[in-house]
Amino acid sequence: RKEYDYLIVGSGLFGSVFAHEATKCGKKCLLIDKRSHPGGNVFCENIDGINVHQYGAHIFHTNDKQIWDYVNSFVEFNRYTNSPMANYKGQLYNLPFNMNTFYQLWGVKTPEEAKEKIQSQIDQAQITAPSNLQEQALSLVGSDIFEKLIKGYTEKQWGRPATELPAFIIKRLPIRFTYDNNYFNDKYQGIPIGGYNKLTDALLEGSEVRLDTDYFQDRNHWDNLADQVVFTGHIDQFYDYRFGRLEYRSLRFEHQVMDQENHQGNAVINYTEREVPYTRIIEHKHFEFGTQPKTVVTKEFPEDWTPEKEAYYPINDQRNNELFAKYKSLGQTQDNVIFGGRLATYQYYDMHQVIGAALKAVNVHFNPPIQPKSTI
Ligand code: FDA
Repeated sequence: RKEYDYLIVGSGLFGSVFAHEATKCGKKCLLIDKRSHPGGNVFCENIDGINVHQYGAHIFHTNDKQIWDYVNSFVEFNRYTNSPMANYKGQLYNLPFNMNTFYQLWGVKTPEEAKEKIQSQIDQAQITAPSNLQEQALSLVGSDIFEKLIKGYTEKQWGRPATELPAFIIKRLPIRFTYDNNYFNDKYQGIPIGGYNKLTDALLEGSEVRLDTDYFQDRNHWDNLADQVVFTGHIDQFYDYRFGRLEYRSLRFEHQVMDQENHQGNAVINYTEREVPYTRIIEHKHFEFGTQPKTVVTKEFPEDWTPEKEAYYPINDQRNNELFAKYKSLGQTQDNVIFGGRLATYQYYDMHQVIGAALKAVNVHFNPPIQPKSTI
């Protein structure tokens, strides 16, 4: 028998939830993480009493009561409701697109007036079969919303003109004909009181965690310590990039401590014009209704990804999806490794989804379905 039941590579939400559940079942877990902190991308650094989301704004939302109750059993969540603003050439608009936005755009006051305005712009665009993102958006919401609130932001996000982006990136554009600035439609939403580290620290209680430890520096050593590996790192790296590298979009964050109590009056303000190089400014204290004398803001700059940068968003185009499919089938032949989380499954997950996926993996692993008996 080896020293640990599970070696878990990566202490993000997937690894932490798996570790917690396995520990509950009496299993011994060792987590390793190449970063100098646990928690993966939900990690917050405390600066002047403010929890600063180091890897981008994280707002928890879900429709799944079980997952909401699960996270609340570790830490209480506050009533934060995401209602971002958009700044286009100095004018402010409410998001998501709702009656407040339409009033700000056109001065219309009733849903009927707003619908008429949008429909007339859709008709004017005369697009029947959208062949790129620009045409897709114009056919869904018309020119004003597209030009002022979608075009520049999306082009910055993807680093390409909207006419060169595939239409499928935007499947639908939710429009609300009520005065409701709540960004999410989910039943449950909030931020852990005291920050996300409270959640991940509670999940990791009872497991051993070694930081600044890269699995690939000495993988034989780590494999020999445990009966089973749970791998939440890059699946292409796991297989020495034998089919090629999976590609991502990256982000650069510029954090700034400011000697003022309240800088922008909202947690999230998007900058939707192309000429401003960042996509949004986050003011972290507003996630927790902070009243500290100082404030911390973060500008978010989308960037091309290169292997030494942090991989944020998978590029799920045909090339990458086909590549991932090859790695995935290799993974399925590997009995003693469970692949999970956003990097090993090459998938964008929201937090509630990755927690759901980890709970499902635990369930399948600890209660494997009974295989039907062969009839031969
Ligand atoms: P995660 O990346 O957190 O963890 C993987 C861990 O593995 C990392 O700690 C890494 O260091 C470690 N690792 C990798 N390779 C290793 C190796 N070789 N050796 C050792 N360790 C290794 N979701 C949401 O619900 N609401 C939101 O508002 C947001 N906002 C948001 C903003 C931005 C900019 C992004 C990119 C993402 C979000 N998300 C989100 C999504 C959220 O971040 C995501 O669901 C979880 O962090 C995924 O957790 P994982 O455990 O899969 O990966």
